[in-house]
Amino acid sequence: MKSLAIVILTAAAAQAQTASTLKDAFRGVFRVGAAVNQAQFEERDPAGGRIIAAQFNTISPENVLKWQAIHPRPDVYNFEPADEYVAFGEKHQMFIIGHCLVWHSQTPRWVFEDADGKPLTRDVLLDRMHDHIKTVVGRYRGRIAGWDVVNEAVNEDGTMRQSPWYKIIGDDFLLKAFQFAHEADPQAELYYNDYNLENEAKRKGALALIRKLKSAGAPVTAIGLQDHDKLDTPPLRQEADTIEAFHALGVKVNITELDVDVLPRTARQNTADVSVTAAGGAGSNPYVEGLPDEMQQALAKRYADLFRVFLEHRDAITRVTFWGITDGDSWLNNFPTRGRTNYPLLFDRQGRAKPAFDAVIRTASQ
Ligand code: G3I
Repeated sequence: MKSLAIVILTAAAAQAQTASTLKDAFRGVFRVGAAVNQAQFEERDPAGGRIIAAQFNTISPENVLKWQAIHPRPDVYNFEPADEYVAFGEKHQMFIIGHCLVWHSQTPRWVFEDADGKPLTRDVLLDRMHDHIKTVVGRYRGRIAGWDVVNEAVNEDGTMRQSPWYKIIGDDFLLKAFQFAHEADPQAELYYNDYNLENEAKRKGALALIRKLKSAGAPVTAIGLQDHDKLDTPPLRQEADTIEAFHALGVKVNITELDVDVLPRTARQNTADVSVTAAGGAGSNPYVEGLPDEMQQALAKRYADLFRVFLEHRDAITRVTFWGITDGDSWLNNFPTRGRTNYPLLFDRQGRAKPAFDAVIRTASQ
């Protein structure tokens, strides 16, 4: 028995040691994925497409399944880009994620208003939510394997965000969204996705929310920890505690939007709230000509530390997804300050693997 275990362990270590791709290094542990943009899945970015096909076994759509993109006007659905995204995922045999059904952001104003511009009643907004979810989830039934059903519903202090969804429907808008999604595709995994859940107050609020949803019977498969991280935050202990706290509720944990911002802070708060903007003062964009080696090493260490935490929690984690492929693709070049040169991912602007990539691969064999 013991020798069999040794043989199996040795085989797993050998697989990780020889693996030169992320999906192979973590095969059997968790899926590794990335958010893809339209140029990539329409094959207008062949270099990006090659990295995706070689490295990842799950993809998320960076923008094309958001409400404003797929359902811009009451009777208009723009399915073409999403169809292409799903076809690309199938071509490469990926575990395909849908992002996202119910969010306060990137949702047109008309969704919450009647023809005269007056706020909708609860029942009419619930009908609208139901139609949208039934149409979008139903179209990709059996093809999109997991959905971010509700995105970012909790405030930093743990209270519920006063979004139009919350204000018009009430706090059962989440339960309804999960029920509608389950109805539209009973096989699909369903997620609650948010950022900064490592922070105590927000985590407590989200834990209470998930507990409440579960006891009301909502079919929640997993929590998405976005992990828009910095070099020094969140601390590793907080990352581990957060994974453990959600897992203890009987749900899986996915890391859904991983990146590590290496630039000086320009906004007052640490947030991934896309509505935040900040002016860039002197010194706010220091690495236009390239990332100095010491920063490159700091980024590699940070990624290795994070992946060690993920590996220690392999029983909880089923997927780790990066929010982009190369540094040039990243939203962090424009957030919260526009036009900076950031280096948050594992591949550089030319698509070459960075030291952080090697550091991540090495964690799989340690
Ligand atoms: O497509 C239009 C284009 O037609 C127009 O010319 C251009 C002018 O600015 O804008 C383009 O749309 C942009 C879109 O990305 C596609 O590139 C929007 O302005 C821009 O706001 C949008 O940003 C996205 C943001 O979510 C808001 O939807 C980022 O790419 C995307 O990375 C980011 O992702 C979010 C997750 O969905 C949720 N969690 C946080 C994460 C990071 O903010």
